[in-house]
Amino acid sequence: MIEELLWLILAVILVTLVINRFTANRNLPPGPFPFPIIGNAHKLAADSRHLDLMELEKQYGKVFRLYLGSKLVVVASGASAIKEVLVTKSAEFAGRPSLYSSEVYAQGKAITFVDYSSEWRLHRKLAASAIKTYNTDLNTGKVNEFSLHDEVDLLLKRVRSRSGQPHDITKEIRLAVMNVICALVFGSRYELDDPEFTKFMEINDTILNMLAAGSVVDVFPWLRFIPFKSIQNLKEKCSARNEIISRIYRQHVDAWRVDNPQDLTDTLLKTKKQAEDEDSSIKGFLTDQHLIMTMGEVFIAGVETTASTLCWALLYLIHNPVVQQRLHQELDQVISPDRLPELEDKKNLPYLEATITETLRLSSIAALSVPHKTTVDTTLQGYSIPKGTTVLTKCNLWSLHHDPEIWDDPDAFRPERFLDEEGNFLPPKADRFLPFSAGRRVCLGESLARIELFLVLARLLHSFKFENPAGCNLPTLEPITGVVLMPRPFSVCAIDRHAV
Ligand code: HEM
Repeated sequence: MIEELLWLILAVILVTLVINRFTANRNLPPGPFPFPIIGNAHKLAADSRHLDLMELEKQYGKVFRLYLGSKLVVVASGASAIKEVLVTKSAEFAGRPSLYSSEVYAQGKAITFVDYSSEWRLHRKLAASAIKTYNTDLNTGKVNEFSLHDEVDLLLKRVRSRSGQPHDITKEIRLAVMNVICALVFGSRYELDDPEFTKFMEINDTILNMLAAGSVVDVFPWLRFIPFKSIQNLKEKCSARNEIISRIYRQHVDAWRVDNPQDLTDTLLKTKKQAEDEDSSIKGFLTDQHLIMTMGEVFIAGVETTASTLCWALLYLIHNPVVQQRLHQELDQVISPDRLPELEDKKNLPYLEATITETLRLSSIAALSVPHKTTVDTTLQGYSIPKGTTVLTKCNLWSLHHDPEIWDDPDAFRPERFLDEEGNFLPPKADRFLPFSAGRRVCLGESLARIELFLVLARLLHSFKFENPAGCNLPTLEPITGVVLMPRPFSVCAIDRHAV
């Protein structure tokens, strides 16, 4: 009897300790009751995290907390809280939580996953400057000797060769975007049947999917000593990727074209040298491994994001033929059939610009990308947020972009919402439209992505009318959930608009 009583007392003490540990009133945001060990991990399904979080938002408000295992996670939604995280208190929320899968992927050397630090600032500054230098060339449409135009033109050729027959356009677009990034980073393009190209694409896809799925070890780090197959696979893919990129990096170092850079890798080497010449104290701060990681990061961060946005745009146009018709009218007024759209045409194509903006809003592809972390004890909408708390905003960039209080009929595809009465493009206000995020961690590739989105779409639409294959149901708008919300593969008939 006494023994049973002692067990009961012990159990009560343990339960009280667990409850105190998780819910002691530290002025934390509200949230569901956390279970011992798992916390609230069961509340988020792998394939619908952004929707599960929206459900929790309905229950607990614009700022709420969860425990994933024992890790405190705060979710910020709505214009005001997101602005506070990304803009007003940008430095206080600019950290990155340490996740085992991203550590395996990046070994502490990727801009995206490194915590807020002087090393990260230097690395990001260098990469941003290299991309900007390169964009100057891109503004004229030139990516090294192989221009962005070349890759888009090859895409048009491949689509035309289908002679209006149904084919999977998502595959074509991914190939084109991958090769644009190859040309940008490596200064060379792959033939589509090159086995290394196929291998490299597969490696990137697998790494991205694994990072998206996360690992049980990210939630329960004490499991890291168990040799999970998924982590083993991630290690193998990362080492295969490093092998290819390191070889290409070495070739660039040997060629040493810093006085006349031919691609982003040359420009990274040049920018690093310049920075070290200006301030010798940073010598050795950024190693070869940092630059190799940056080369790989441009693929991981730049291919699926851009390709998926382009695919969403075509998918929305198939669902909304009237919008496509109006785009064709605009393109025909501005550009004759005997030439292709150039970047300089952008200012004369407001409806296309509005269509791209509406695609970025409605698809909100970066719904589940990298989480932030608080770098100091801080507050959010009056709640206390301790230093080291993981903060999710991007899932809620989705909710921001679909908030009925901000957007009239938010689930409808209506480019007109970004036009004024005279039909001029009306850029959305930054507090309600953040597809590339904002603040310290804002997307590094926004300008490059915008150039690609414009040129690829303008050229595809100038050349073709896209139709759903006759007799088939319209393709689903249900995304595949990952780091990026991807459209499911779909077929189209691309009818040549200028065939003679
Ligand atoms: C439509 C295309 C794209 C979209 C919607 C997009 C969106 C985003 C978003 C939402 C973030 C997270 C920012 C944050 O943590 O608050 C991000 C980060 C990042 N993006 Fe993009 N992105 C796109 C294309 C690209 C491209 C083409 C590149 C390649 C240069 C790129 C490179 C990066 C990098 C390196 C980061 C990490 C920045 C950091 O942690 O400091 N992105 N992007």
